[in-house]
Formats: sequence, C-alpha cells, structure tokens
Amino acid sequence: MLLVSSFTLVAQNPHGDDLAISCTDCHTTDSWTLSVTSEMTFDHGEQTDFPLEGQHAFVECVDCHADLTFKNASTECVDCHTDVHQQTVGNDCARCHTAEYWLVDNIPQIHEQNGFPLEGSHAMTSCVECHTTSNTMAWNRVGNECVDCHREDYFATSDPNHVTNGFSLDCIECHEPISQSWEGSNTHFFFPLVQGHDLPDCNECHTPNQPFTGLNPDCISCHLDDYNGASQPNHALSGFSQDCSQCHDLTPGWPANLLDHDANYFPIYSGTHQGAWNDCVECHTNPSNFSMFSCIDCHEHNDPNDLADDHDDVGGYQYVSTACLDCHPNGSE
Ligand code: HEC
Ligand code: HEC
Ligand code: HEC
Ligand code: HEC
Ligand code: HEC
Ligand code: HEC
Ligand code: HEC
Ligand code: HEC
Ligand code: HEC
Ligand code: HEC
Ligand code: HEC
Ligand code: HEC
Ligand code: HEC
Repeated sequence: MLLVSSFTLVAQNPHGDDLAISCTDCHTTDSWTLSVTSEMTFDHGEQTDFPLEGQHAFVECVDCHADLTFKNASTECVDCHTDVHQQTVGNDCARCHTAEYWLVDNIPQIHEQNGFPLEGSHAMTSCVECHTTSNTMAWNRVGNECVDCHREDYFATSDPNHVTNGFSLDCIECHEPISQSWEGSNTHFFFPLVQGHDLPDCNECHTPNQPFTGLNPDCISCHLDDYNGASQPNHALSGFSQDCSQCHDLTPGWPANLLDHDANYFPIYSGTHQGAWNDCVECHTNPSNFSMFSCIDCHEHNDPNDLADDHDDVGGYQYVSTACLDCHPNGSE
C-alpha cells in the first residue's frame, strides 16, 4: 500500500518538480488540505530563507503561496502589500515597518534621518500641518528648509520688517530651529539679549530706520565711555584690557565676575589669605588703580619684629610690597 500511495502523491504534486522536501513533512495520509494548526514537521524558519515573523506566523500558506509553487513567492514586502503611500517613500517598506503591525513607532528617528528633527514647536505640531496632502498616507516631499514652510510668515513680518531690512531667507541665521516662537531671547542668539542687554528698545544699540546689519559685537565698540569713566578702579590707569569679557559678563553694575584673581594674580580666595581680608582696598590701597597693591599695611601691623626675624638669613630682603610679591608670589612661605 505504501508504494501505491507514494506513486499517487508524486502524480498529484502541485508544487513544482524541484521540491526538495518530502511530501510527508507537510502532508498526512488523511487529506491534502492543511492548515497552520496541522501537525506538519516542516519548519518555515529552518527550511526557508524567510522566517514567518510577527503577524506572518498566523497567515495561511496559500495566502502567500497562491500558486503552490513555493519558490515563486517574493520576499519583498511591496510585492505582497499595497503601497498605500503611492510611491512617496520608496519600496523599502522595512525601513519603517515590521511584520508585527503597520503602526510606525520611530517617527522621531525617521525625521532625524531626514535631517529634520522634530524639536521645539515642531514636536508639538500635528503631522498634517506639515504633510498637507489630503490623503495623509502620501508623504509627499515638503522640504527641509525653514522657508519651504514659513515663506508667508517671512513676508508678513513687520517688527522688524524682514523684507525692507533685507534679512536672509535662511531663517536659521537668526532663528533657532528649537525655539517655541519667532519672538523672544533666542532670536538674537548670536548676541544674547539678556541681563544688562535685556533692553526694551532695539534702538539702544541699532540705529532707527537703518538696516540691522554691521554692528560690531566687541564690548569696547559700545562701552568705551564706561571704560574711560570707570574710577573704582580706574581702568585706563590700571592698564586693564579693553576686552571687558576677561573680567565682566553681562551682569548689571559691572561686578568683575570673571576676574580669576587666584589664578591670574594672587590667591585671595584660597591659600593663606583666604578669609584674611575684607575689602579689595586692603591690598589695593589706591582704589582707582588696581595695578598697585600693598602687603606691608597688614604685615607691618601684624608682626613687624617677627617679620624682620623671619628674614634674618634672607639675602636681598626689602621691606617693599613688590619685593614681598616677588619672593612670595602665592602669599605662602
Ligand atoms: C512544505 C510543505 C509541503 C510539502 C513538502 C508538500 N506539500 Fe502539498 N501542499 C502543501 C500546502 C500548504 C498545500 C495547500 C493545502 C491547503 O491550503 O490546505 C498543499 C496542497 C497539496 C495538494 C492539493 C492541491 C489542491 O489543489 O488543493 C496536493 C495534491 C499536494 N499538496 C501534493 C503534494 C505532494 C505530492 C507532495 C510531495 C511531492 C507535497 N504536496 C509536498 C504543502 C506541502
Ligand atoms: C507571509 C507569507 C508566507 C507564508 C504565510 C508562508 N510562506 Fe512559505 N515562503 C514565503 C516566502 C517569501 C518564501 C521564500 C521564497 C524564496 O525562497 O525566495 C517562502 C518559502 C517557502 C518554501 C521554500 C521554497 C523553496 O523552494 O525554497 C516552502 C517549502 C514554503 N515556503 C512553504 C510554506 C508553507 C508550507 C507554509 C504554511 C505553513 C508557508 N510557506 C507559509 C512566504 C510565506
Ligand atoms: C509573500 C508575501 C508577503 C511578503 C513578502 C510580506 N508579507 Fe506581510 N503579509 C502577507 C499576507 C498574505 C498577510 C496577511 C493578509 C494581510 O493582512 O494582508 C500579511 C500580513 C502582514 C501584516 C499584518 C497586517 C495586519 O493587518 O495585521 C503586516 C504588518 C505585514 N504583513 C507586514 C509585512 C512587512 C513589513 C513585510 C516586509 C518585511 C511583509 N509583510 C512581507 C504577505 C506577505
Ligand atoms: C518612511 C517610512 C515609511 C515607509 C518607507 C513605508 N511606510 Fe507605511 N507607513 C508609514 C507611516 C508613518 C504610516 C502611518 C502609521 C502610523 O501613523 O503609525 C504608515 C502606514 C502604513 C500602512 C497602514 C495604513 C493605514 O491606513 O493604517 C500600511 C498598509 C503601510 N504603511 C504599508 C507600507 C508599505 C507596503 C510600504 C512599502 C511600499 C511602506 N508602508 C513604506 C511610514 C512608512
Ligand atoms: C514641522 C513639520 C513636520 C511635522 C509636524 C511632521 N513632519 Fe514628517 N517630515 C517633515 C519633513 C521636513 C520631512 C523630510 C522629508 C520631506 O522633505 O518631506 C518629513 C518626512 C516624513 C516622512 C518620510 C520619511 C522618509 O524617509 O521618506 C514620514 C513618513 C513622515 N515625515 C511622517 C510624519 C508623521 C507620521 C508625523 C506626525 C506624527 C510627522 N511626519 C510630522 C516635517 C514634518
Ligand atoms: C515642513 C514644514 C516646516 C519646516 C521645514 C519648518 N517648519 Fe517651523 N513650523 C511648521 C509648522 C506647520 C508650524 C506650526 C504652525 C505655525 O505656527 O506656523 C511651525 C512652527 C514653527 C515655529 C513656532 C511659530 C509660533 O510662533 O508658534 C517656529 C519658531 C518655527 N516653526 C521655526 C522654524 C525654523 C527656524 C525652521 C527651519 C529650521 C522651520 N521652522 C522649518 C512647519 C515647518
Ligand atoms: C537677520 C536675522 C533674521 C533672519 C535671517 C530672519 N529673521 Fe525673523 N526675526 C528676526 C528678529 C531680530 C526678530 C524680532 C525678534 C523679537 O522681537 O524678539 C524676528 C522676528 C520674526 C517674526 C515675528 C515678528 C513679526 O513681525 O511677525 C517672524 C514671524 C519671523 N521673524 C520669521 C522669519 C522667517 C520665516 C525667516 C526666514 C524665512 C526669518 N524670520 C529670518 C531676525 C531675523
Ligand atoms: C545690546 C545691544 C543690542 C540690542 C538691544 C539689540 N541688538 Fe541686534 N545686534 C547687536 C549686535 C552687537 C549685533 C551684531 C552681532 C554679530 O554680528 O555678532 C546685532 C545684530 C542684529 C541682527 C543681525 C543683522 C545681520 O544680518 O547681521 C538683527 C536682525 C538684529 N540685531 C535685530 C535686533 C532687534 C530686532 C532688536 C530688538 C528686539 C535688537 N537687535 C536688539 C546688538 C543689539
Ligand atoms: C582685568 C579685569 C578687568 C577688565 C579687563 C575690565 N574691568 Fe571693569 N572692572 C574691573 C574690576 C575689578 C572692577 C571693580 C568691580 C567690583 O568692585 O566688583 C571693575 C568695574 C568696572 C566698572 C564700574 C567702575 C566704577 O567706577 O563704577 C565699569 C563701568 C567697568 N568695570 C567697565 C569695564 C569695561 C567697559 C571694560 C572693557 C572695555 C572693563 N571694565 C574691563 C576689572 C576689569
Ligand atoms: C552694540 C553695542 C553693545 C555691545 C557690543 C555691548 N554692549 Fe553692553 N550694553 C549696551 C547698551 C546700549 C547697554 C545699556 C545702556 C548701558 O547701561 O550702557 C549695555 C549694558 C551693559 C551692561 C549693564 C551695565 C549697567 O550699567 O548695569 C553690562 C554689564 C554690559 N553691557 C556688558 C557688556 C559686555 C561684557 C560686552 C561684550 C561682551 C558688551 N556689553 C557689549 C550695548 C552694547
Ligand atoms: C591680599 C591682597 C589682595 C586682595 C585682598 C585683593 N587683591 Fe587684587 N591683586 C593682588 C595682587 C598681589 C595682584 C597682582 C599685582 C601684580 O601682579 O602686579 C592683584 C591684581 C589685581 C588686579 C589686576 C591689576 C592689574 O592691573 O594687573 C585686579 C583687577 C585686582 N587685583 C582686583 C581685585 C579685586 C576686585 C579685589 C577684591 C575682590 C582684589 N583684587 C583683592 C592682591 C590682592
Ligand atoms: C589684609 C591683610 C593682609 C595683606 C594685605 C597681606 N597679607 Fe599676607 N597674611 C595675612 C595674614 C592674616 C596672614 C596669616 C597670619 C600670618 O602668618 O601672619 C598672612 C600670611 C602671609 C604669609 C605667610 C604664609 C605662611 O605660609 O605662613 C606670607 C608669605 C604673606 N602673607 C605674604 C603676603 C604678601 C606677599 C602680600 C602682598 C601681596 C600680603 N601677604 C598681603 C594678611 C595679609
Ligand atoms: C628675597 C626674598 C624675600 C623677600 C623680599 C621677602 N621674603 Fe618673606 N620670606 C622669605 C623666605 C626665604 C622666608 C622663610 C624664612 C625662614 O623660614 O627662615 C620668608 C618668610 C616670611 C614669613 C614667615 C612665614 C612663617 O612661616 O612664619 C612671612 C610672613 C613673610 N616672609 C612675609 C614677607 C613680607 C610681608 C615681605 C615684604 C615686606 C617679605 N616676606 C619679603 C623670602 C623673602
């Protein structure tokens, strides 16, 4: 009987002559009909190059192998699935989809790969505001340049009027992509308008009815009078640099926040003299000239005799502040 049934199987084989898998891997003698729940020993993952992942594990064989010639099946998603995107994103469906579901959970990454990360206000904008095609599944190119979507905003500006000022159409020269709005402190990010520069009127720096271009960002170009007028200490006399940013930031009142006294001049916030003084003028006894300083106002009063004793054996000892600093540049022994 076995011989007869084998002969019958070969005679009826609908799968093509070159099927290399034994009929009994899939069929039993009960019926030619199969279902995924049948007890076939055939393993699609092991015996073919196309593992049945995700939802494909629950699909009937004939839904993919309609003609039953198994090797004719295509491995490309697009050969079995309709391109609902109408050729707007190409044929490589697997770039965005898996066989689990059609939902796409890497929308942010897709935009990064396109060089257009959804940051700032763009992260809160709905898809259709940018992808305006009526059929939302057609991802027609909208363009990455700000002006591709914001041309009308540009021509509608009045404060300042971008057209008459001749501003570039390359918005990111002045507007940060991550900002939440066109106005605000970010706009002037190349020269932040904060602290002392948080001024009510652009014309404090810019000239009315003139283009905004051409201003020099160097502090001294606007603050020469402040430099010349500074008396506590007198900057010109003290020979201070005109690069104010060595000692100042934009804090109102011109405190010397960036003056790194310990590293640049003499340790006063560390070492022996930490806590040993109350006021700058205890060393800088001439408050209008900080290039001058005194050590002996303190050290005389503290310990005049000991001081002399200490230097008994020290050749070249002088009771002069500049000499003290020469031998004790860090205020230590
Ligand atoms: C890898 C598994 C597999 C192997 C191996 C296999 N078949 Fe099939 N066969 C199927 C599937 C799947 C069907 C479709 C049945 C269904 O959908 O229920 C089928 C259907 C058939 C049918 C019915 C055709 C029809 O039109 O309904 C016959 C006859 C058949 N196979 C014969 C054979 C013979 C003969 C062999 C060995 C030479 C063989 N099969 C090997 C999987 C297999
Ligand atoms: C989701 C679609 C899909 C389903 C469902 C599916 N297959 Fe496949 N199958 C394929 C693809 C794609 C190939 C790879 C064809 C190739 O080799 O290029 C393949 C290959 C095969 C091969 C190897 C063909 C060869 O000669 O290399 C066999 C046999 C096969 N399938 C049998 C089955 C059987 C039996 C079932 C049901 C249990 C099944 N397939 C279900 C898509 C499917
Ligand atoms: C050989 C044909 C074939 C190939 C190749 C194929 N699929 Fe399928 N796929 C099917 C069939 C048939 C179904 C079940 C019917 C349906 O839902 O369309 C299915 C179902 C799915 C489902 C489930 C649909 C749902 O509604 O639940 C997803 C998702 C899917 N496929 C994604 C993919 C992706 C992604 C690829 C490429 C990596 C791919 N498929 C390749 C034939 C194929
Ligand atoms: C660049 C990414 C990308 C590529 C490539 C891509 N898709 Fe999509 N696809 C999407 C997005 C996004 C959605 C909407 C899903 C969502 O909102 O989560 C979608 C949805 C779908 C849906 C579900 C439609 C519905 O009405 O729910 C199907 C089906 C689909 N895609 C098929 C394909 C096929 C087929 C290909 C290949 C030809 C493909 N996709 C390529 C991004 C892509
Ligand atoms: C602020 C505007 C904006 C928003 C909001 C936006 N996108 Fe995009 N999207 C773009 C730009 C720009 C591209 C780059 C390609 C181009 O020029 O169209 C793009 C590309 C895509 C692509 C194609 C990617 C490719 O590789 O082919 C898909 C798919 C997509 N977006 C889906 C979405 C979905 C889904 C949402 C909502 C969750 C969304 N987008 C929200 C602007 C946006
Ligand atoms: C693909 C279209 C698209 C591109 C490209 C694009 N945007 Fe947008 N942008 C939008 C949409 C849509 C909104 C939300 C609606 C609106 O406010 O105009 C938005 C909102 C904004 C807002 C907030 C406006 C407000 O006041 O709420 C700013 C700021 C902005 N975009 C700046 C930029 C900058 C800078 C670039 C270039 C790096 C850029 N956008 C590129 C579409 C785009
Ligand atoms: C040369 C610098 C510069 C460029 C380039 C520039 N802007 Fe502006 N924009 C500004 C400044 C400065 C403001 C005022 C900000 C404020 O008030 O805080 C501004 C304000 C705006 C405003 C709000 C003011 C109003 O009158 O509505 C919009 C909208 C705007 N810009 C859109 C754009 C768009 C779109 C582009 C590119 C196509 C662009 N800008 C390019 C400097 C620029
Ligand atoms: C504290 C001084 C100051 C204030 C206040 C100020 N700006 Fe500026 N602005 C500058 C400087 C300095 C530059 C040049 C920066 C550079 O080139 O690095 C500049 C450059 C610009 C530019 C770029 C011109 C170009 O294309 O080169 C625009 C536009 C501009 N300012 C607009 C404004 C607007 C609008 C306001 C009021 C909301 C304003 N500024 C307030 C100092 C100021
Ligand atoms: C070497 C460090 C240094 C540099 C460089 C410097 N300053 Fe000062 N400036 C100081 C110190 C120290 C003070 C006193 C700060 C304090 O009391 O906290 C001061 C105070 C001032 C004051 C207030 C003085 C007064 O008499 O009221 C002004 C105004 C001032 N600086 C402007 C400038 C300007 C403008 C520049 C650049 C052109 C500049 N400074 C560069 C160290 C510096
Ligand atoms: C384009 C002109 C311009 C430039 C360049 C400029 N400023 Fe100003 N700054 C102003 C104006 C105008 C004010 C407000 C009027 C005033 O206090 O002098 C101001 C105010 C300040 C204040 C507050 C002064 C106070 O009285 O409290 C500080 C601090 C300051 N600027 C520091 C700087 C520093 C540091 C630089 C260089 C990094 C700089 N500025 C560059 C125009 C400028
Ligand atoms: C314990 C003594 C001492 C104290 C206190 C002190 N300094 Fe000095 N300071 C010095 C010495 C020493 C130098 C270095 C002088 C030199 O190298 O010619 C110096 C240098 C400076 C210079 C650079 C002067 C120049 O023209 O090169 C500035 C500015 C300065 N101090 C500011 C201050 C400020 C502001 C304070 C108070 C916060 C302060 N100092 C407190 C000892 C002191
Ligand atoms: C505000 C007062 C004051 C000024 C100004 C002052 N010192 Fe001092 N100095 C002290 C005090 C307090 C001590 C710790 C007690 C002591 O040893 O006399 C000290 C300690 C020292 C020591 C001994 C360190 C050790 O390791 O024991 C040296 C060296 C010294 N100072 C050098 C200087 C020099 C150089 C200057 C001038 C640039 C200077 N001092 C300015 C108050 C001052
Ligand atoms: C030519 C170099 C030189 C000069 C100038 C000099 N010193 Fe000294 N100083 C020394 C040496 C070396 C010692 C350590 C002596 C010892 O331990 O025997 C010393 C010790 C000291 C001590 C004692 C440290 C301790 O451990 O008690 C103080 C305080 C001091 N000097 C402060 C000063 C003051 C203030 C001046 C300026 C009036 C000054 N020195 C000038 C080289 C010098």
